Amino acid sequence: MAMKEDIGDTMISNPRGLPLEAHYKVDPADNVTGYKAFEAGKFGFRRDEYFAYISTPKGTHTMSVDAFLRALMRDVAWGFFYGTVNFDPVFGTTNFYGEVDMFYGALNEAYTSEGRDYVERFRADELMAIFKEMVSDWTNEGFDPFAAPRETGVPWGTKNGDNDDAVSRQRVTARRMVGMPGDTPLRTDASGFPVNTMFDDVAQDQPEVHAEPGFEAEVQAFNLFGYLSRSDVTWNPSVCSVVKDSLFCPTTEEYILPVEHGNDRCEWFIQLSDQITWNIKDGVTGRPKAVVAMKAGDVACMPADIRHQGFSPKRSMLLVWENGSPKVPDLIREGKAPNVSVQF
Ligand code: PHB
Ligand code: FE
Repeated sequence: MAMKEDIGDTMISNPRGLPLEAHYKVDPADNVTGYKAFEAGKFGFRRDEYFAYISTPKGTHTMSVDAFLRALMRDVAWGFFYGTVNFDPVFGTTNFYGEVDMFYGALNEAYTSEGRDYVERFRADELMAIFKEMVSDWTNEGFDPFAAPRETGVPWGTKNGDNDDAVSRQRVTARRMVGMPGDTPLRTDASGFPVNTMFDDVAQDQPEVHAEPGFEAEVQAFNLFGYLSRSDVTWNPSVCSVVKDSLFCPTTEEYILPVEHGNDRCEWFIQLSDQITWNIKDGVTGRPKAVVAMKAGDVACMPADIRHQGFSPKRSMLLVWENGSPKVPDLIREGKAPNVSVQF
């Protein structure tokens, strides 16, 4: 075994005044597999040719490294996202915006009812640093955890190069709207975003904008279907327009959403093309609640107390509409905001 490199302890106070102590460690590359191992608090992570292994004081969990890397990539790129990112029914993170819980079995009633669950809280920036190093080290040359399976190489085998260009992609976050002067740009062939083969029937014309003199920098329109047809990633909502706390986050989907997302607020889905089937489970227990088949034009509000995972048999376009207000999770916890946006 290689020597352990110790990258130190930290202690901070969380809002409830409790000290947050965490120990982080990175083991140099294993002599057989070539991959580093990682520790964050009492959680340990290692991978081999096919699997990721997560050890905790209450037990060890095994995931296909393919599913693990796709989920880890989302958690990293989304900064722990809104609420809970379940990598699978057992392991995941819950965002407390500045702090983050990492859990094993804590949102799975088969584990909690037997006292087999384990949770530890971290400073978000510190856990993020470990997660970023892990996704970089464990991703081999040719594998892109953001890509649809038919568009990427494989994650299997011993350590073989890296794909840091892919795993360090910045998520698109428009300040006002895609295409505004000084804001995130439109996608073109020339900027390296060709139309995806599954969307080669999508029109690529742009709307004409005739602004009054003096308003040229204020008025903007673009072809959203054309923009999405040129996305090179899947299951990665990007902020394309912003009105106060209202965030339009369209995305292109293919195969399976790599996480079960446990909301901490309501979230609207508008299916723009093709079809996605959503498995809905209770956010706390993981009990199955519903299966929702959304076809082009369908609109759904996902309640704040569930988790959801989507299945898209063809590349499809989805508009995710987020409420970016930082007040919402507390309002829901205090019973001042409903779990659903509309009561019938
Ligand atoms: C979601 O959890 O709401 C979600 C995440 C990624 C997507 C679409 C939806 O691409
Ligand atoms: Fe969601």
